[in-house]
Amino acid sequence: MQKNLVTCENLIKIYKTDDLEVVALQGLDLEVAPGEMIALVGASGSGKTTLLNILGGLDTPSAGRAGVAEYDLTRLNEEQRTRYRNLVIGYVWQQSGRNLLPDLTAAANVDLPQVLNGAGKARCTKRTRELLALVGLADMAKKKPSQLSGGEQQRVAIAVALANQPILLLADEPTGELDSITAREIIACLRHINEQLGLTIILVTHDVAVASEVDRTLAIRDGRTSTETIRRNKPLSSETSFNGASATGSTGIGLSLQTHSESIFIDRIGILQLPKDAIERVILDGRADVQIANDHVELWPIGAIDDPWDDAPSPGKSAVIGLSLHTHRESILVDHAGRLQLPKEALEHIPFHGRAEVQVIDNHIELWPIFKNNNQKG
Ligand SMILES: Nc1ncnc2c1ncn2[C@@H]1O[C@H](COP(=O)(O)OP(=O)(O)O)[C@@H](O)[C@H]1O
Ligand SMILES: [Mg+2]
Repeated sequence: MQKNLVTCENLIKIYKTDDLEVVALQGLDLEVAPGEMIALVGASGSGKTTLLNILGGLDTPSAGRAGVAEYDLTRLNEEQRTRYRNLVIGYVWQQSGRNLLPDLTAAANVDLPQVLNGAGKARCTKRTRELLALVGLADMAKKKPSQLSGGEQQRVAIAVALANQPILLLADEPTGELDSITAREIIACLRHINEQLGLTIILVTHDVAVASEVDRTLAIRDGRTSTETIRRNKPLSSETSFNGASATGSTGIGLSLQTHSESIFIDRIGILQLPKDAIERVILDGRADVQIANDHVELWPIGAIDDPWDDAPSPGKSAVIGLSLHTHRESILVDHAGRLQLPKEALEHIPFHGRAEVQVIDNHIELWPIFKNNNQKG
């Protein structure tokens, strides 16, 4: 199995201001493989910047684990933290003003982190030239930020972030201040760097169009990773259908499902924990495909069926980030204890009213609202 470059486990960040406490991250899990380019999306205030700041060594978690390569971010002392920030991580901010010094040329901005790191002049000049070429600004080396467009400034910012050969590039809404065409160019530039250098990139964005350009998009909700969208290898065909399903098996306490039902609690924000029996019988391995049927929700192991959305007349858009389900598959993360968070759309479509019946049907799990299920099945 490939070792992850980034691992967060049950990450918690609480900001204390006077007598107020804000829980910015509440048990966030994240794994990023080397060479991956992922996007983080989520409403304002969901904890994206907090997560990036922790991964960037700018902030420390209150509890939980955060690691990047061999660096344990909960254990670095100040000196190690400074080295980590300067040499291991590249950071691109949303405000290009924060990335660049206005009085220095593009080249001098890219030189600066190298000079501060003690690089010799010749090596520095060569690397700066290479980096400006990589971001498509070979001709702009002598221009100052004010002489560059917003998109060009962000390209220089990317080159600055790459100056000391980081192993991870973090970009917090790097396209937030750009028009959509320029934004696409910046993302294409990041994608190019990801592919050319094999560099792992974590990108925070509001823009779903941006999310469609990356390998994987994670939606953050209330300080947790809640769903995952993966680009399909092949677009949907309209013929695949579900495996035949029949109600077999028993509840968690061993009663027959034909005579008994079992319910679980679903909290206000859709978090629930699957019964042990269900996760033992349907091996989800960390994530599940979600299908919202007319009157219930189904959880399928990834790859158990060709495409869980294929059965629907129109696959429509993903529940969380709005990408077409013709081209993307959306799954939710399920932790080792069977805890998961239902997509908002599932909560809106199915009247769970705080609880659901769990049925293990062959190779998938169904969640039914209590009253509907009793009427329709039984
Ligand atoms: N320095 C801080 N002090 C107090 N609260 C903060 C601080 N930074 C962020 N927060 C709070 O933490 C939550 C998550 O913020 P943030 O990570 O910036 O979200 P996002 O980047 O997704 O918009 C918000 O409720 C925000 O108000
Ligand atoms: Mg933010």
